[in-house]
Amino acid sequence: MEILFVRTAVILISLAASLLAGCATGNSAADHPPTLKDAFKNDFPIGVAINQNQFTGLDTNGVALITSQFNAISPENVLKWEKVHPHPGTNGYDFAPGDVYVAFGEQHHMLIVGHTLVWHSQTPSWVFQDESGRRLSGTNAADRELLLHRMRDHIQTVVGHYKGRIKIWDVVNEALNDSRSENDTNLLRQTSPWVRILGMDFIVKAFEYAHEADPDAILRYNDYSIENPAKRQRLIKLITCLQSQHVPVMAIGSQTHANLIWPEPDLEDDFLTEISRLGLPIHITELDVNGSQAGQRSQDADIMQNAQANAGGQPFATVQEKLAHQYGDLFKTFLKHRDAIKLVTFWGVTDTDSWRSNGQPLLFDGNWRPKPAFDEVIKTAE
Ligand code: G3I
Repeated sequence: MEILFVRTAVILISLAASLLAGCATGNSAADHPPTLKDAFKNDFPIGVAINQNQFTGLDTNGVALITSQFNAISPENVLKWEKVHPHPGTNGYDFAPGDVYVAFGEQHHMLIVGHTLVWHSQTPSWVFQDESGRRLSGTNAADRELLLHRMRDHIQTVVGHYKGRIKIWDVVNEALNDSRSENDTNLLRQTSPWVRILGMDFIVKAFEYAHEADPDAILRYNDYSIENPAKRQRLIKLITCLQSQHVPVMAIGSQTHANLIWPEPDLEDDFLTEISRLGLPIHITELDVNGSQAGQRSQDADIMQNAQANAGGQPFATVQEKLAHQYGDLFKTFLKHRDAIKLVTFWGVTDTDSWRSNGQPLLFDGNWRPKPAFDEVIKTAE
């Protein structure tokens, strides 16, 4: 009898325990896993670059991740000059994809970024030629005038079209000299047609034109590898020079196309400390961490050359572990500088979407599943 009583009690207790466990599971974090935007809600918005399949809704799994994890978006390609303004003349604009991108952001109450107004890449060749196809020359005043006029038309039409809706613009992209040598005195990228024809003026004017078109928009200078000492000093020189002329540059975009060993925590920390002294908000604009073996080379080369070199490399066997470690270090440093950092944006949703997909550089795999790096990033917020 006594044994029966004990047995019944044990069964009842374990039943109650399993019911309680069931209740607990029903309300546990497992059912409501943390999201990036919630984890960092007291620190900075978390953005992501999205592509056409995503903002048109075709990639439904991608959309689910974008809307649940992120609260800011950047257009990976559709607002670049070649897409939004492929042909000369007033009929040369195509706002259709950009309009869908912006509507997507509004529908989901996201902070909407515009990328990018003036860049040497993804800009049609007619921009730098006259009507007969002759290359514009920096020593010809009429050519300079023509290019400035085109740039003004482009900036004012595009920024004007999205006035009040796109809140942040990358106005000038990747204009700094890449060289890692501190003895290289060229401030700007000498191979850029903008630099060749207009010199420093194109940067000054681009910001002024954008500010005229939307005085409320936050205007960014955006570049990569600016953590490295020589390029960092050029950035400081450029921004200080613009500030001394009251040019409306309002934020610094650090792309942060990282790899497994670069930037080291000390380098990132020093960089953010030094750059924040300029007094402008810092945005991490194109974050990813390249896990391919070929992607571990130094970051002084042109970013597109890096992309080509990375295309061949296989990922390391322990890539997810290494990636998690690097992402953890980066976010710890971002959090340390949370007073200066006002936005952190990933350059793509899943590894498959990425411009360097074989480096598996993002927080979600090709099946839209969070990777160990995702957990590591969330952990830094806790
Ligand atoms: O749209 C065409 C398509 O019609 C064609 O069939 C296909 C064939 O190759 O190409 C498609 O265009 C590609 C485009 O991405 C859209 O997928 C271009 O070839 C390709 O060059 C382009 O690459 C983009 C790259 O910028 C161009 O410079 C990447 O998606 C984009 O992630 C990358 O983003 C840049 C930032 O804007 C600036 N900072 C560096 C960053 C990484 O390179």
